[in-house]
Amino acid sequence: MYFAKPKIILKIMSNFFENKIVVITGASSGIGLETALEALNRNARVVFAARNLEIVKAELNSRKILEEKYLLIKTDVAIESDCKNLMEKTIEKFGTIDVLINNAGISMRASFADLDLSVLKKLMDVNYWGTVYCCKYALPQLIKNKGAIAGISSVAGFKGLPGRTGYSSSKFAMNGFLETLRLELMEKKVSVSIICPGYTNSNIRNTALNNEGKTQNESPLDESKLMSAEAVGKEILFAVEHKESFKVLTILGKATFWLNKFFPKFIDKQTLKLIKKESGSPI
Ligand SMILES: NC(=O)c1ccc[n+]([C@@H]2O[C@H](COP(=O)([O-])OP(=O)(O)OC[C@H]3O[C@@H](n4cnc5c(N)ncnc54)[C@H](OP(=O)(O)O)[C@@H]3O)[C@@H](O)[C@H]2O)c1
Repeated sequence: MYFAKPKIILKIMSNFFENKIVVITGASSGIGLETALEALNRNARVVFAARNLEIVKAELNSRKILEEKYLLIKTDVAIESDCKNLMEKTIEKFGTIDVLINNAGISMRASFADLDLSVLKKLMDVNYWGTVYCCKYALPQLIKNKGAIAGISSVAGFKGLPGRTGYSSSKFAMNGFLETLRLELMEKKVSVSIICPGYTNSNIRNTALNNEGKTQNESPLDESKLMSAEAVGKEILFAVEHKESFKVLTILGKATFWLNKFFPKFIDKQTLKLIKKESGSPI
């Protein structure tokens, strides 16, 4: 008879990431940085991709991590040639790619009526096209290794969030792309996991763009009360290891997912109410 192993035992026993080559975009802060550090803890070879890598270098030096275990590659995922270069440099150093975690992302906050359309384009370039470019250039190695792709989406990727037209549409697009890719790659044994974190303590609300495309430089939430980026990182690695197709995090995220299926009008009203309550809400 089969008994499912409790998650905690699976976490302790597993050596899934040992010597795997793991590329993580947006690895300079928040969820991406914590996922990358956890992958290093599990003896993966980790490629950190982001535009600003000085903090990462300092963190790795302070932890005395050997240079043979990681690679830092300055990458703007909105630029196709940067994503190509990221995969080429990874193969140059480590020979291949086993896991690609598409985590780089930015957010926004403005009503659509006031929004400069360049903000929507910027969000699509980073969140959607960044994922597409990285998948495209990593794909041959992932197929060869029967590897894994993960996309860090959001609750906003299955529920439209008022004041976040650009963010929600880029994450819905990301979900559509990754779900289709999952089916295309099923017989090639490449897993594709979509992970939708709920509110997580990170820098994302500080860097979110306002209606003119300027960073808002503040968070309307008490970040210390949100899920930690470290805990989200562990959930991401668990999803990759266990080939989970779709995963929603936080109680609010899970409630939104299920209530939206069965009581969509109710959850529309609740979502609007919640967003309107945020300090400085543009809605
Ligand atoms: N925090 C939340 O509440 C939450 C909830 C749901 C989903 N998420 C998703 O989780 C992911 C990580 O966000 P986070 O919360 O950890 O935010 P964060 O702390 O702001 O980290 C975002 C990361 O993305 C990178 N990035 C942004 N633009 C980039 C670009 N053009 N090219 C390459 N890297 C870029 C940033 O690095 P550089 O600036 O150095 O390039 C940074 O490392 C995002 O996709 C976000 O949508 C977050």
